Amino acid sequence: MELMEGLLTRRSIRKFQDRPIEKEVLEKIIKAAEHAPSAHNTQPWHFLVIQNKEHLKHFRVMQRSALFAENAAAVILVCVDKGESFSREKEGWSYQDIDGSAATMNILLAAHSLGLGACWCGASPMTGPIAAIKEYFELPENIAPFSIVVLGYPDETPKEMPRHSTERIHWEKW
Ligand SMILES: Cc1cc2nc3c(=O)[nH]c(=O)nc-3n(C[C@H](O)[C@H](O)[C@H](O)COP(=O)(O)O)c2cc1C
Repeated sequence: MELMEGLLTRRSIRKFQDRPIEKEVLEKIIKAAEHAPSAHNTQPWHFLVIQNKEHLKHFRVMQRSALFAENAAAVILVCVDKGESFSREKEGWSYQDIDGSAATMNILLAAHSLGLGACWCGASPMTGPIAAIKEYFELPENIAPFSIVVLGYPDETPKEMPRHSTERIHWEKW
């Protein structure tokens, strides 16, 4: 699939066929995530691949809006090492979530290009889901869950979403 076509046709998919995703396909998707940009090229990501049905079912408890993970083939939990992401502690900021976003977007696009469906479900910055996920999956203290990417072979073709168009483009000055 050509990149521009992929960008314009990707949609969030929440209904999946009862079919597993091959390990090589998951590895390919994660390779795409590892090629995302990151501030100061820290590449602070870790990817937790979840295929166990009991674990997938537990997302309904940890993040209610990700409950459809129970019918998915896999979740890739995108995590960021807080100690690795570029930050200025004294000034109170970190690129942690922005790095997580870039990797998540690459996963969505790679999945789409490989014939899979995917949906980005939020973890960060919601304190409840973050705490629940950290505890359930026994993440080390320095590892922050960022997003829950739900994946599977698609069993729906969602309608095109209306998009803001050229009225949101500003040239030179607002
Ligand atoms: C940060 C973020 C968090 C999201 N969280 C959820 C979620 O918890 N559950 C869900 O079903 N969709 C979630 N979505 C998907 C959005 O609802 C979806 O991207 C939006 O409706 C646009 O549809 P599209 O992805 O098909 O273009 C999230 C998307 C983003 C970017």
